[in-house]
Amino acid sequence: MSIAVRLTLWYALSAFTLIVVATGLLYWVLVNSMYQEDLRDLADNLNNALLLLPSSPTAPFEGLPEQRPSWAPPHQPEIYLRVLDAGAHTLTETPGMAQQLPPPTQPELAAITTSDGTKRDIVSPSGQPFLSLIVRIPGQSAAQQLRFMQVAMDREHDEYLLARYRERLWLVLAASLVLCSIGGYLIARRGMRPIEDIGRTAAHIRATTLHERIGTEGLPAELSGLAETFNEMLDRLEQSFRHVSQFSDDVAHELRTPINNLRGEIEVALGKPRSGEEYRDVLGSCLEECGRISRVIQTLLFLARSDTAIETLQREKVEIGKELRTVQNYYEAAAAEAGVELSVLPGETIHAEIDRTLFQQAVGNLISNSLAHTTTGGAVRLAARADHSRVTVSVDDTGCGIPAEHLPRVFERFYRIDQVRRSSAQNAGLGLAVVKSIATRHGGHVEIDSEVGHGTEVRLILPAST
Ligand SMILES: Nc1ncnc2c1ncn2[C@@H]1O[C@H](COP(=O)(O)OP(=O)(O)OP(=O)(O)O)[C@@H](O)[C@H]1O
Ligand SMILES: [Mg+2]
Repeated sequence: MSIAVRLTLWYALSAFTLIVVATGLLYWVLVNSMYQEDLRDLADNLNNALLLLPSSPTAPFEGLPEQRPSWAPPHQPEIYLRVLDAGAHTLTETPGMAQQLPPPTQPELAAITTSDGTKRDIVSPSGQPFLSLIVRIPGQSAAQQLRFMQVAMDREHDEYLLARYRERLWLVLAASLVLCSIGGYLIARRGMRPIEDIGRTAAHIRATTLHERIGTEGLPAELSGLAETFNEMLDRLEQSFRHVSQFSDDVAHELRTPINNLRGEIEVALGKPRSGEEYRDVLGSCLEECGRISRVIQTLLFLARSDTAIETLQREKVEIGKELRTVQNYYEAAAAEAGVELSVLPGETIHAEIDRTLFQQAVGNLISNSLAHTTTGGAVRLAARADHSRVTVSVDDTGCGIPAEHLPRVFERFYRIDQVRRSSAQNAGLGLAVVKSIATRHGGHVEIDSEVGHGTEVRLILPAST
């Protein structure tokens, strides 16, 4: 069942219940006050009759109009009077009263001891409802016989009014049920519209319309939070999507150049007949190009797997200083060739639970960057320190440095500062991206500081234990 239908039902039900209770209460008040009004009328009539009671109480009520006057409203209640003695004998009564209301019995009269009298609801043999009041006639001396007066009023008029009132009440209730349902439905629809808007916006967001956002203006507080969360999600999606498409653009671009080179070399070689020596040369250089392409692909695969965390880390407890010296040894020859001093600064013994191979690869990438950007006579220093359960490994050089505007982007894939070298495909621009990915996989991060002309320091910050 949809929320709108539920809300409609709840609204209609509660509003209708309230209306039923209110009209029921009003009806009850009406019935009660009509009854009280009748009683008052009856008492007035009784008082008037007592005043007018002829000196001889047995004289018949003659001259009373038997026919209703023409000006009397329809259903004017009929009033009957009767005078009785203590033995329940009728002394006199309104003509026709005996047929409608048989006189009370003697025990009934005997039970009337106070001057208040007794009031009763009676239904006549013809089914007409009556309200009757019997009192002792006051001011009687002891010598006189005890006498009673009965006054009765037919309540058919009341019944008629109430019946008409009830008829209208049913109509009002039926109409209010319909109106409550319609009102409830409209309110529910109105309340649900923002949700539908959100749904509609979400439904037509595609890769090409990722920039669209849900309008949060005018939304109720509960939904604006939801819409903002949704918009934030779209922000992230858009960013990732832009990243991915940028990345695939870069991949295509990166691979196109070496493959074009390869093709060019092969085409030139096949252009005319050549000696075995020349073919060997071409094949050798093709092999080199293939090696580079396959290295780029290998690195991309590594990064892709890191992103999706398909491969788990092979963590082991290692001594950081020892690992740094191992990498230093590996790059010793290259450093010597470049005329750069490569050293590991002495420090405390630090242990950490890390993936040894990945750690060596990250430090190696940093060293190779430093060696590539440091001129003869410069120095590259490796150092490690531990603080607050974190291990910081730094590689700093006295090289050319990186201009500040490039610093935020150097860890991006394929990002190279020296655009001229881009075409050479010697450096893919993936080294720092790999370092960052390795740090992230270890639950750490990387930092870089650089000053043009002075040098660069890259820090690898890893948690010491998992
Ligand atoms: N120590 C450094 N000194 C000066 N510039 C640096 C240094 N390290 C990196 N860079 C600059 O940052 C860019 C990105 O480095 P990164 O290691 O990601 O790519 P790369 O070295 O060009 O290619 P790859 O490492 O894939 O062979 C480099 O092109 C280089 O210009
Ligand atoms: Mg590099």
